[in-house]
Amino acid sequence: MNNTYYQSLIDTAKAILEENWVGTHTKPSFFLYPHQWNWDSGFISVGYSSYMQKRAQQEIYTLFAGQWKNGMVPQIVFDPDSLGGYFPEPGFWQTEKSGLVKEGKLTSGITMPPVHATVCRKIFERAKDKKESEIFLENMYPKLKRFHEYLYRYRDPKQEGLVYIRHPWESGVDNSPTWDKPLKSIKVDKSKLPPYERKDLSKGVPKEQRPTDEEYDRYVFLVDLFRRLNYDDIAIDAESPFKVQDILFNSILNRANKDLIFIADIIGEDSSDISKLASKTTASMQKKLWNRKQGIFNDYDLYNDNEIGVETASGFLPLYSGDATVKQAKKLYKYLESASFCAMHQGNCFSVPNFNMMHEEFDQVNYWRGPIWINMNWMLYHGLKSYGFREKAMSVMEDILELVRLYGFREYYDPYKGMGYGTNSFSWTAALFIDTVYEMDYPEEVIM
Ligand code: DGY
Repeated sequence: MNNTYYQSLIDTAKAILEENWVGTHTKPSFFLYPHQWNWDSGFISVGYSSYMQKRAQQEIYTLFAGQWKNGMVPQIVFDPDSLGGYFPEPGFWQTEKSGLVKEGKLTSGITMPPVHATVCRKIFERAKDKKESEIFLENMYPKLKRFHEYLYRYRDPKQEGLVYIRHPWESGVDNSPTWDKPLKSIKVDKSKLPPYERKDLSKGVPKEQRPTDEEYDRYVFLVDLFRRLNYDDIAIDAESPFKVQDILFNSILNRANKDLIFIADIIGEDSSDISKLASKTTASMQKKLWNRKQGIFNDYDLYNDNEIGVETASGFLPLYSGDATVKQAKKLYKYLESASFCAMHQGNCFSVPNFNMMHEEFDQVNYWRGPIWINMNWMLYHGLKSYGFREKAMSVMEDILELVRLYGFREYYDPYKGMGYGTNSFSWTAALFIDTVYEMDYPEEVIM
């Protein structure tokens, strides 16, 4: 099978991106997510890189135009023309109190996984006009570096080389079971919460596929805390009851560190400081976040000072970042290739479910509590391939193609019945489908 076999689906994928493109950036989906999202734009740009270089660059430029003065790249850059259909929007975030938002920009007050150096490298590698693309790298390098520096400066209080997230939305995997314990330990007095109205439940996605009201109360509690502290990083570090060293976030960061070093080499910049940080992150991930008993990586709750032993697809991402030792990689493979995460040839399921399917709280329809997400498959496919687990890599990749072929460009998919859930015409599903088919014809080099 090659590009031609998938041509009509590629055409549909491109049409979806076109529909969600608003002239400066791409909405993740037309109604449910009507602004620009941080890591979504990264994955979307990967899709563009194989057929519309300028657009791929524009997507990233627009996102980084919203970069804060302290280097943070916000989770959402709001589109002034699309306000009114999402919660929380600028009036709730009140990020102007921070003094850190650029003139004329409207953004949320938290960040998201820093996939962008990896994406910029991919854009460069795909470019036909290398000279022009080098200018793009030159423009982006200082911005990317400031983002990474922000994370290490303000999110790694003990200088372990592991950064923390301060809100589940910062992970991108909003209601992953990983957050259950840390969120439950936050005592919320509902009468003291600012009034708010969820908008996500009126967009045609059934309630059972979305986070609960209890979760939203905690999401809101944290946003309210941050805005009361005027988004002061030092004050938030002292007061936030949610500080988690997330394996997904740190894996994506360290993959991006390595790609930032690659970019620095191309444009002749010195990256020795990033190299030092990257090595420290690798060592700490291997030591502190490795769950030897289960053979998977886990998150660490810095606030409550304990390991969060919850097994989700995030725990395999050190394959994607190249940070698992060979011994750890073998254990990861064994666990990933088990009934817990839908083994190859099992027949009744697709891979990779976002949560251990054998767990009593596995939920095959709910957002990040069970379903398959195309961006996770995409990262794991690349990770497995780079460690030489070729057959499994191919099977994870084939499931990307099959899920889309059978059920359309959905936000997430049921690992058992193979139904699609969440929103329709989801941009990163379209973009990463395009990339996956492109890779079949023009495979990248094995990176390790
Ligand atoms: C949402 O609104 O569900 C988003 O994922 C938050 O970023």
